[in-house]
Amino acid sequence: STLGASAAERGGRYFGTAVAANKLNDSAYATILNREFNQVTAENEMKIDALQPQQGQFTYGTADRIVQHARSRGMQVRGHTLAWHSQQPGWMQNMSGSTLRTAMLNHVTQVATHFRGQIAWWDVVNEAFADGSSGARRDSNLQRTGNDWIEAAFRAARQADPNAQLCYNDYNIDNWTDAKTQAVYRMVQDFKNRGVPIDCVGLQSHFTGGSNYPSNYRTTLSSFAALGVDVHITELDIRNAPTDAYRNVVNDCLAVARCKGITVWGIRDSDSWRSNESPLLFDGGGNKKPAYDAVLTALNNG
Ligand code: G3I
Repeated sequence: STLGASAAERGGRYFGTAVAANKLNDSAYATILNREFNQVTAENEMKIDALQPQQGQFTYGTADRIVQHARSRGMQVRGHTLAWHSQQPGWMQNMSGSTLRTAMLNHVTQVATHFRGQIAWWDVVNEAFADGSSGARRDSNLQRTGNDWIEAAFRAARQADPNAQLCYNDYNIDNWTDAKTQAVYRMVQDFKNRGVPIDCVGLQSHFTGGSNYPSNYRTTLSSFAALGVDVHITELDIRNAPTDAYRNVVNDCLAVARCKGITVWGIRDSDSWRSNESPLLFDGGGNKKPAYDAVLTALNNG
């Protein structure tokens, strides 16, 4: 009768949501969170600028509050994110070369150590590939420290928290034939071949209606899984929340044994970064939308 409970009955999967710490005191919000979901991702509170606003000064209080809220209620926590070109604090934005490499790896080590034992999955690296047809890495200050910055981050994370599952997370890697999808696939394949510690791939899955929900999404999920990694749908939202697209996403995950769960990127439409697109499962009043029923039905019968 709830998203989390129904997902759990489908091979121990989870159904989660992004949460914002400043909404945990909103009773309508917390009621839905605590009733429906068995996994959370901090929407902003574990990003680099939130955790290390000044170099060497770590501010964990707000993130700890989310982790405590979740774990005390049996919800699993996805850590988001250790290394990213965006949401860097000013001091990091201005760094380059080996100084930046060292600072990035120190951030990974410090943060993964702080949360050791509490995080089921880390988005170790987020959004490192370019959009479009190049199949190249995204240009960024981190990329300019050397192409091996991603594997260096994964190795540091593994060392700091050996029991966390380590994921690469990105958007627009949903369509199997896209150059960006293929490029990420080749990186994961290379990491597996060379023993770089990677356990999972996160597909953010920010969809704009039915139009960019690709008919080959299930192929993408199963192709990554065939490399020997789990797959996660990490930031799902769909413009106007069409019931058929939501149902298809759930059924595609259920069809792939290594698809471990789905996280929607917010609870109510009013909580969404795309609040003008009504992309979530609950309306601004906290009422279940038709997409909610489609998802729950798919979880139960799909
Ligand atoms: O909290 C401050 C507030 O004090 C300030 O007055 C206000 C003015 O700009 O900004 C507030 O911070 C904003 C924060 O959200 C909290 O609302 C930031 O500006 C804003 O940039 C930030 O946006 C977040 C965005 O990531 C930043 O990269 C969104 O909430 C969040 O949903 C979004 O999430 C990303 C994932 O991390 C990665 N994948 C894509 C996804 C959507 O963009």
